[in-house]
Amino acid sequence: MTQTFKKVRALTGMKDVLPDESASWESLEATVRDWLGSYGYRNMRTPVLEHTRLFARGIGEVTDIVEKEMYSFTDALNNEQLTMRPEFTAGMVRACIEHNLLYERPHRVWAMGPVFRHEKPQRGRYRQFHQIDVEALGFAGPDIDAELIIMLGRLWKTLGLNDIRLEMNSLGQADERAAHRDALVRHLERHKSVLDDEAQRRMHTNPLRVLDTKNPAMQEMANAAPRLFDFLGSESRAHFDGVCQRLADAGIAYTLNTRLVRGLDYYNLTVFEWVTDRLGAQGTVCGGGRYDGLIELLGGKPAPAVGFAIGMERLLDLCTQSAVEVEQSECDVYMVHQGADAQRMAAQLAERLRDGGLRVIVHAGPGSFKAQFKRADGSGARVAVILAADELAAGSASVKWLRATDDDTQPQQETIPFDCLVTELKLKV
Ligand code: HAM
Repeated sequence: MTQTFKKVRALTGMKDVLPDESASWESLEATVRDWLGSYGYRNMRTPVLEHTRLFARGIGEVTDIVEKEMYSFTDALNNEQLTMRPEFTAGMVRACIEHNLLYERPHRVWAMGPVFRHEKPQRGRYRQFHQIDVEALGFAGPDIDAELIIMLGRLWKTLGLNDIRLEMNSLGQADERAAHRDALVRHLERHKSVLDDEAQRRMHTNPLRVLDTKNPAMQEMANAAPRLFDFLGSESRAHFDGVCQRLADAGIAYTLNTRLVRGLDYYNLTVFEWVTDRLGAQGTVCGGGRYDGLIELLGGKPAPAVGFAIGMERLLDLCTQSAVEVEQSECDVYMVHQGADAQRMAAQLAERLRDGGLRVIVHAGPGSFKAQFKRADGSGARVAVILAADELAAGSASVKWLRATDDDTQPQQETIPFDCLVTELKLKV
């Protein structure tokens, strides 16, 4: 007796993207490729799996990501500790060091794909999600920090998004952070009685992150804490002012959020986030900043760098909330046919139409005219091309418009000789 198989479901926090939804993914991906190309950024692709120590060292041992969110395992074949990438930056830097890219010249690069973090799933927070990651490697000046932010402003505009605002901060340099850290730890020690368990634990390992708390009982203490921004020296201030000046030139507004520290340890100087109120608790659509020490930390020749990553699920959710229209049609032309000969001719004509750049679906399987037209309509096609015995005898196809056109003189149905079909439809569809 065969046992019934218990249905397998997707893992918690890992979503399927079904065909109806993937139109908006593809549309976003196409927009993103054009946008990045227009600023001279080039695509690179790195493996999903890397050595665990790359992320532990790159992102920082005492971060939420490394401490509790990584999908790590021991490769049973060779005992290596491996991790599914929880972000792109460390892997991209590893690849640039490994292939000596940074010895020749700076690079503007980007990558897009899935990343993995074992977080508690909720709207906008998944265990497998997708990032558009952009890195400018080998550039020191504030001009590139500003370029990245201005680029993002252009993307939001292209996508028709208004409800997204920029928050900025500077994390200064290591010595400035050390001086601030001493002052901060003293402050935390003075307020030990209000610190929750997590804060007590982090107070000496990662005190900056204590200020990131959502715990209402700790807000007063956090508000009164010494601000890293006040510990910045003149060079760090000049860098920050240089970024802000260029943002002003480009008409990009920002707010200074001195509590913005980001969840990864590699940042210095500029950090920023683009945030919206339209997505509930997970409102950060994009985050990034400068990480001048990471390349050296991962074994490369010292070189400055800056970058950001956009969460694609959050960006798509925001596009939906903002009612950004996405082209949903499956094809331009739907071929309706009756009889074996008409079906063969439909397949041949469809190939010619595709040569002409049109997207074509030939009705497959049986179906009355009525059923086929219903499918044609559901496909979102602009026209149905109809072939039956009469059309074959006349050497012409009947063409029926399924959607309203801007042209009032356009008849609802017309007959077009097979030889003219590609030229005529290319012009009209
Ligand atoms: P991040 O802030 O950790 O930065 O992630 C970037 C973006 O990914 C977030 O702003 C958010 O939109 C999205 N995101 C993060 N976690 C989740 C999740 N669990 N579910 C859905 N979306 C999520 C980085 O990853 C840095 N590597 C960015 C960077 C690049 N910095 C310099 N270069």
